[in-house]
Amino acid sequence: MASLRGGFRALSWANQLLYSRRPSWKCASCKVAPPTVRLPRRYATTSDSAAKKPYYVTTPIFYVNAAPHVGHLYTMVIADVLKRWRTLLGEKDAQLLTGTDEHGMKIQQAAKAAGIDTQALCDRNCETFKQLAQAANMDYDYFIRTTEPAHKDAVQYFWEMLEHRGYIYTDKHEGWYCVSDETFYPPSQVHLALDPSTGRKRMVSIETGKEVEWSSETNYHFRLSAFKDRLLELYKTGFITPEHYTDYVVSSVSSGLQDLSISRPSERLTWGIPVPNDTSQTIYVWLDALVNYLTKAGYPFPPGEGSRLGWPADVHVVGKDIVRFHTVYWPAFLMALDLPIPKNVLVHGHWTMNREKMSKSTGNVVNPFFAIDRFGVDTMRFFLAFQGGLASDADYDNSFIIRDYKKYLQQGIGNIAHRTIGCAKGNLRTYIVNGASGTSHSTRDDEVYQATLGQLSTKVTEQMEKLNPRAALQEIMAVILQTNKYFANAEPWKNPEEKQRVLFNVAESMRITGILLQPFLPGKAKDILDVFRVDPAKRNLSDAGYASDPSYGEGVKKKILFEPFIVDT
Ligand code: ME8
Ligand code: MG
Repeated sequence: MASLRGGFRALSWANQLLYSRRPSWKCASCKVAPPTVRLPRRYATTSDSAAKKPYYVTTPIFYVNAAPHVGHLYTMVIADVLKRWRTLLGEKDAQLLTGTDEHGMKIQQAAKAAGIDTQALCDRNCETFKQLAQAANMDYDYFIRTTEPAHKDAVQYFWEMLEHRGYIYTDKHEGWYCVSDETFYPPSQVHLALDPSTGRKRMVSIETGKEVEWSSETNYHFRLSAFKDRLLELYKTGFITPEHYTDYVVSSVSSGLQDLSISRPSERLTWGIPVPNDTSQTIYVWLDALVNYLTKAGYPFPPGEGSRLGWPADVHVVGKDIVRFHTVYWPAFLMALDLPIPKNVLVHGHWTMNREKMSKSTGNVVNPFFAIDRFGVDTMRFFLAFQGGLASDADYDNSFIIRDYKKYLQQGIGNIAHRTIGCAKGNLRTYIVNGASGTSHSTRDDEVYQATLGQLSTKVTEQMEKLNPRAALQEIMAVILQTNKYFANAEPWKNPEEKQRVLFNVAESMRITGILLQPFLPGKAKDILDVFRVDPAKRNLSDAGYASDPSYGEGVKKKILFEPFIVDT
């Protein structure tokens, strides 16, 4: 140890951490190997911890056992909307992380079943997820793979710190393991069920319906039970969004928290990160996977540097299937190392097909590449963000996409833009100049409508701060529907004295909603703002107030923003 310490001067902070703290307690079965400190690859030597922490949002890292489906696209879109929202606020350093989870039994078995090399399977399927992130127009900053060397270092370091602090011990473990869910279930959470496709009876998880297998082995455990009280305190701070999921988590944690098995014997699980100093065991895939969020932030970071590098995460966006891992195990691991806890876990519901969860392993999936090709990326982003539930599930159907496209985009935004430009007869700029000067006559209806436009950015901001992109988008779309009504009722083409105010207002509706739609439909929002010749430097949230930008509208020409669909089903 002495030579290690002397050898890596740069690591003095890490050694201080390791050697200055005595493990709080240890039981007889603890097997604490002396920690081997590895040189972290990527930390800066400057100590600018006063700098503002970049906003940091993540998606789950997806298993590469099969190709992505619309459910994965949805999570990517929600996380991307959150990141782009921060950019709209002017935070140019906001960070978005996505990636792939490439270790574990599930991947090992998938490669075996496909008869291909495991790394080759990971490389191939990881590429598909990366392509999806690109096809989704995700503005991600880093795409992490758990097979990266930097991640392996971070996980092994994390393990050593847990072990050093006395939170890891060995014990015999018996229980039902579910490869599909990569988790052990207690006996109360499994039952015997008939497989309708084979007629065979097998044990399955009650929660997910996936098959479980009995396993009896000696492995390492994490003292999860030690964190019950601190976790229950954490849940009082609004850690889980929406609130809806808190009750479920609180009741499962209060009703008893078992220690967690965090390794598997290497003869069963070869495809993973070896336990430091014990190659007979492989680290449990969920411990490995959760650490990805830290790897990206440069863990292990020198004391005081985590914040500059983005830690703690502001939001982990996850589906409700993985709430327990993110709201129980993950904060407990971090608490064990006195690392800051992420500010929020944003949970969303599932996309279903005929009310059954869309799932890679069930096979009832929609190929997101086909959907994007057919409907366009912004239509898909719009539909998923608009109809996808946070607290509830949502059923997927092509006819719903077409219905919403027609109502809100084509006959909503597209129609308003078209009629505004048509009605201005090549002269929109004059209406903007006069309208922005605020001198034109306005009726009671105009005033009501202007107040709506004036409040929109505040309402959208409130929803985004509550991490509810769907409600934010609903606010915008309510204004679109209201604009169509306002336009139709005012009949500016018949009322010359009304025309000035009405055309200015509807043009403002396009400018303001165009700005606010940028995080949701980046491509189409740009088209809308371009059509109305809105200065690219005036497309920030601070520009989204009513009559706050008198400079647009020069040389505006009609352009079809949302093409009609040729095929209707
Ligand atoms: O759980 N509806 O990966 P995974 C909505 N590797 N979202 C869905 C969905 C559906 N029907 N199906 C999947 C894992 N998702 C782990 C995560 S994180 C440290 C490790 C989305 O490939 C949703 O975000 O099974 C869900 O939580 C995630 O994909 C699960 O992806
Ligand atoms: Mg899954």
